[in-house]
Amino acid sequence: MCGIIGYIGTKLVKDILLDGLTRLEYRGYDSAGIAVLTPSGVEITRTVGKVSALKEAATQAADGHAGIGHTRWATHGGVTVPNAHPHRCGRVTLVHNGIIENFALLRERLARSGRFPLSETDTEIAAMLIDSLYDGDPAGAILGAARMIEGAFALVVLFEDRPERLYAIRRGSPLVALSNEDGAYVASDVTALLDHGRDYFVPPEDVLLVARREGIQLTDQAGNAVRPQMLRADWDYTAAQKAGYPHYMLKEIFEQPQALTRTILPRVREGIIQLEETAPVDDALKGARQLFIVACGTAMHAGLAAKTLMENMLRLPVEVDIASEFRYRDPIADAGTPVVLVSQSGETADTVAALRLARLKGAPVVAVVNVKGSTIARESDAVIYTHAGPEIAVASTKAFTVQLAALYMLTLHMARLRGALDQDRLREHAQALLTAPQLIQEALDRESQVREVADAVHRATDMFYIGRGLDVAMAQEGSLKLKEICYLHSEAYGAGELKHGTISLIEPGVPTFALATQREVYPKTLSNMREVRARGGTVIPIVTDGWEVEPGSYDYLLRVPGEGGVLAVFPLAAILQLLAYHCAVYRGLPVDQPRNLAKSVTVE
Ligand code: M6R
Repeated sequence: MCGIIGYIGTKLVKDILLDGLTRLEYRGYDSAGIAVLTPSGVEITRTVGKVSALKEAATQAADGHAGIGHTRWATHGGVTVPNAHPHRCGRVTLVHNGIIENFALLRERLARSGRFPLSETDTEIAAMLIDSLYDGDPAGAILGAARMIEGAFALVVLFEDRPERLYAIRRGSPLVALSNEDGAYVASDVTALLDHGRDYFVPPEDVLLVARREGIQLTDQAGNAVRPQMLRADWDYTAAQKAGYPHYMLKEIFEQPQALTRTILPRVREGIIQLEETAPVDDALKGARQLFIVACGTAMHAGLAAKTLMENMLRLPVEVDIASEFRYRDPIADAGTPVVLVSQSGETADTVAALRLARLKGAPVVAVVNVKGSTIARESDAVIYTHAGPEIAVASTKAFTVQLAALYMLTLHMARLRGALDQDRLREHAQALLTAPQLIQEALDRESQVREVADAVHRATDMFYIGRGLDVAMAQEGSLKLKEICYLHSEAYGAGELKHGTISLIEPGVPTFALATQREVYPKTLSNMREVRARGGTVIPIVTDGWEVEPGSYDYLLRVPGEGGVLAVFPLAAILQLLAYHCAVYRGLPVDQPRNLAKSVTVE
């Protein structure tokens, strides 16, 4: 999604903006631009494509001590230079992340006063609106415009005749800020600011941020000063670099043992899982008659795996919902149906909207979130932080396995609250969960075998994943990874479902991965796999170590370390991630920044 950076201070701004944009590249974008306030006015440089192209274009551009930068992920209007940010109207120059839903109405209104945009964007309408309200009072113009705008936005604004200030305001879209002795900075996320400080804050919604070289002030609509809640980034920029790996995705896959240890270990006390952070909702979890898990994409797949686990262990109905559906289908949620939101970024627009709806309906909300201080973390009743560290690659990997661990721990915590498992069983599960990092490490040690299979299948145009029980959720995740970064068609099914239609797509050379890590159903999955082979498909069972697979019944075989069952999700995830990764590398694709995708989807 769009990335924003802004600076005002004693240093030269151009490099700060360009470096910041480089660090925001992972969010996904298709054009970029900067605006620098110079003694002769605002100078704007914009390009289509990568930040490297912008850097080249900006070499001759003037420098200054205040400026804003932006990476754009197209929503309104194509990928063109006129649509790239920053946008200027009169004395106002701004960058924007989000979607202005009533932009057509505002455009009509502005047209009536003879103002017409040059681009197709909703952002330029915001610039025009602020300019139309500007009579020398920047705060009044921005707050006035914010009152008229419907939708989500983070705006950072320069006024040509107010060179000593930078303004920002947000609603629904992410923005962070910090100041140091060199000046004040704002950005879409803290990754862009780590060279300038660790102590930052998220400006509250609809509060005006005024940055000067001396520091930052926040005021609400009534003009009252607002004190921000300070946060500290407990990782530095090296954690967000490739550390010798060719891609962030590979680095993040290999970081999973540590990420899991960081997430699980502090929650094991006296031999069992204890989640202190859910205290505000423990009564609701104890008395719940149903649970919702709401999320998008990979995070939703973690929810699907958790449903199987929770229903099994707690005998409690669990409904897993895609956030974009939950928010519009009038779900039957209330105080008796806690809602568990799962999100790496904590900023996914649909998940944020689902959260607000759940709260409106009186449902207690627990969030499983990776990014500290994100919108979902701040607005939920309780937060279980995952400790994956920064996830930069668009394809989510380590965030997924820590989400699985967090949801497993939530299940055990609820089992204790509800008396669903006795102390001995709780201990056994906690001990088992502590072995997850080791299991995933063993799977990573098998990278070369996975690479060989990727080499064999990467030219295919269609691939299928089948499994039963927990393996269905894992099949969906494996399939999503492949689609995302390999640009090939893939589908995932409950193994028994294939013959109800989809098997007609199987023809010679079409690979099917049969995931078989759940003891009670593994022979059935393998017999479904044989049905595929009988129709000429290429079959690749991915089966728990030691479990028998009939020789000659498959084309390639991959083994999952461990003894199967719940814990198999961890090593299996790593194998599926490596498979997609190596297929993408063999196909020569940009693994970390797949086309059309954004890391954090902050628009609807
Ligand atoms: O930040 P979130 O976990 O809320 O993001 C949800 C999805 O957008 C995300 O998981 C997406 O599906 C990943 N790119 C998949 O790898």
